[in-house]
Amino acid sequence: MHKVLISKEIPAIAENLLKNEGYLVTTLNSDVSLSPVNNSYLKQELANTDAIISLLSDQIDQEFLNHVPNLKVISNFAVGVNNLDLKSLAANNILVGHTPGVLTEATAELTLGLMLMTSRNLYRASLDVYEGRWKGFEPLGHLGPGLFGKNFGILGLGRIGIKLAEMLKFGFQGNISTISRGEHKDHNLKSTINPAINLQIKNHDDFFSDLDFLILTAPLNFETKNWLNSERLQKLPAKCIVINTGRGELVDQEALYLALKNKKIWAFGTDVTTPEPLPTNHPLLTLSNYTVLPHIGSASIEARTKMAEICAKNIILGLKEKKVLHSPIPEQQI
Ligand code: NAP
Ligand code: GLV
Repeated sequence: MHKVLISKEIPAIAENLLKNEGYLVTTLNSDVSLSPVNNSYLKQELANTDAIISLLSDQIDQEFLNHVPNLKVISNFAVGVNNLDLKSLAANNILVGHTPGVLTEATAELTLGLMLMTSRNLYRASLDVYEGRWKGFEPLGHLGPGLFGKNFGILGLGRIGIKLAEMLKFGFQGNISTISRGEHKDHNLKSTINPAINLQIKNHDDFFSDLDFLILTAPLNFETKNWLNSERLQKLPAKCIVINTGRGELVDQEALYLALKNKKIWAFGTDVTTPEPLPTNHPLLTLSNYTVLPHIGSASIEARTKMAEICAKNIILGLKEKKVLHSPIPEQQI
């Protein structure tokens, strides 16, 4: 009988599908990530596990794989796979699944919500009511820039970035731009994006200068790590609001702190940080122009349910057919 380990409780559809196949399913109930170090219970569980549903907070590297000699499938409950050492997984002939597509709308919606939350001060305005500071309608209270007709620059025009671009173009009549990645990649992007978006692909020097919003929806990879560094922050105009729903590591947080403190940019809103969670005494949390959410981009009921279903299906197919539904390693996908 195959044994499947789920790193933390996810929507029940996953466990139901796996149990229907006759698999033995164990769901861990812990706030810490999947690490066998100093955890003899987990070591024992991993020793005879065939498949794992991992979370984006679980680091799956060679060191981890050494504890799971029977592992055949790792199924990540996320589209992002930066927590997985894909080279080691492939070298160990382990199938890798993830959940693209089903969380695109949810994450684009959340990005838009975070843009409004950051620009129109929604969190702090609401808190003023809860904490008794609001005394009545204030003509000059909680003012912030609107979204309508603004200049939006997006880094990472994949599924989520394009969905967001559509919302900003057709909902807010914005001007959408991105940064050139060279002729070949620019051509591929142009052929996938709706021409009515009128995407402007700008070179590095022209991209930053007139942005009202810079939005990061790129994956974390060797090119994007610390992409928003002090040099790029300095290129942004003081009116610019930066939003990050990609990964915390896209941003140099020390440089960001200085830029926000010295009002070099207007504000920063993020769903992702380094680390997660940010310690409550972190300097960024003292700034009134910093807004943070607890990594809830995909947290619509619909998206999380579909993610759980795909995670289970990736495992079932992987164990039966040695292929998965969705893999970041193209040759492993049906
Ligand atoms: P996707 O469809 O693969 O889109 C990512 C896009 O980024 C691709 O078009 C990719 O282009 C582009 N890209 C990669 N490196 C780049 C670079 N150096 N400069 C500019 N663009 C670059 O993935 P997705 O489904 O939209 O998800 C994107 C990311 O969002 C995930 O990897 C994850 O980190 C994050 N995410 C966060 C949440 C959340 O809860 N906050 C939820 C879902 C996803 P190429 O493929 O041509 O390189
Ligand atoms: C969430 O961050 C994901 O990558 O799915």
